[in-house]
Amino acid sequence: MRYTLLKNGEGNARSRFSPGIRLKLIGFLLPLVFLLVVSVAIAVTKITDSEIRKDLLERGVAVSRVIALSAGYSLLSGDRLALDSLAAETKNSSPDIEYIAIRDTKNIVVAHNRIEDRGKEYPSPGSATSLAKFPNTDAEEVVREGRPLIEFTTPILFAGKHVGTVSLAFSKESVLAPQRNIRRSIVIAASFILVIALAGTLVLAYRITTPIKRLSSGVNELAEGEGFHPIPVRGGDELGELTRNFNRMAETILAQQGHLSRYAKDLEEAYVGIVRVIAASIDARDPYTLGHSKRVAQISREMGRRLGFSGEELEHLDKACLFHDVGKIRIPDNILLKGKHLTHPEAEEMRGHAIDGAEILKMAPSLHRYVDIVRSHHEWYDGTGYPDGKRGSEIPVHAQIIALADAFDAMTTTRPYRAALSPDDAVEEILRYRGTQFSPSLTDVFVAVAKEIPMLETEEWKGLAL
Ligand SMILES: [Fe+2]
Repeated sequence: MRYTLLKNGEGNARSRFSPGIRLKLIGFLLPLVFLLVVSVAIAVTKITDSEIRKDLLERGVAVSRVIALSAGYSLLSGDRLALDSLAAETKNSSPDIEYIAIRDTKNIVVAHNRIEDRGKEYPSPGSATSLAKFPNTDAEEVVREGRPLIEFTTPILFAGKHVGTVSLAFSKESVLAPQRNIRRSIVIAASFILVIALAGTLVLAYRITTPIKRLSSGVNELAEGEGFHPIPVRGGDELGELTRNFNRMAETILAQQGHLSRYAKDLEEAYVGIVRVIAASIDARDPYTLGHSKRVAQISREMGRRLGFSGEELEHLDKACLFHDVGKIRIPDNILLKGKHLTHPEAEEMRGHAIDGAEILKMAPSLHRYVDIVRSHHEWYDGTGYPDGKRGSEIPVHAQIIALADAFDAMTTTRPYRAALSPDDAVEEILRYRGTQFSPSLTDVFVAVAKEIPMLETEEWKGLAL
């Protein structure tokens, strides 16, 4: 038995008890085989019982007639010695003969294999049931002295004249014993056949269901994208052919999937490239912010390293830095290049770049992980930033890192309306906003980076800052 988990169209899971095909096959075949074996056993038992009974009746009739034929002359001539000898020899010839009684027409026993019964009137049985009637011989089931017997009665004729009767009795046990033996043999044989049939049914069920189970696993592997392993093909029957065709189909699907993945990857890379170009173009639109995104990325990467980011996380942070101001593509030059003295509507439009950048990144599935970072890079730690007023841990940590690097780079870059601050002054300014605009712990990490990283003092950095 096993449980299968099925999902309906709305995605809600429900469980349903479902016996496997192997169990169904066994459940169908086993009772069938059992019934077949039992039916055959019963039929064989009946046939053999009938044959044993028939054999005994024929034997009894034959022996009874032979005695009747042999006894006629001796009975008529009064040769009792010959009759006794005939009774005794017949009794000795077969151990299952109980007695032979030869009687005259007055029903007096003339000869008997038991001496004490001679000269007596032949008694009527306690009960008698006719078994069969043969020419000149009757077969009856009788009870004498409490014992069940099968008795054959044949008239003794001599020269066409009735001169006596011979009664020959077999013990009923002589029929029942062989029947019991045969039945015991049939039960043993049937049990043996049942065991073989059970094993055969299990093997058959296994041979039929195993390829189906393998196919089912293959379909699951294919559906779940876990890497498909070709299913071994066993035999040239329909299941083998089905397995071969399934393997071919899976290979075709995987090949097509590979092509599609490559196309999708190429498309994503192209889109990422476009976004990079947009980011660089935005920086290039303002000569004072040329290289801004790259410098933000450099500071952020160093902070990420100190925070124990993995290589993958650092790469993630790096890209987020490059993309963080991509929304500025929608800001017209007269606002973007205007600098500090923006009107309220202009400032609102400028602030819109965080949302616009997030919307641009939403267009490429591979860039979705940067959407929230880009949207939140102007949020303040105390919740007074924009666009959503997020606070503390609600702001993605990458966005908080970028906010620090962004502010530092803005302050250390010369603007038309003010000169650049020195790195130390910029750090001092950032410290003033520790706990309000910036996370206290991340501010501490930033200060450590600003003080210990020589790159901020290099000509290369200064060149980038121009
Ligand atoms: Fe920004």
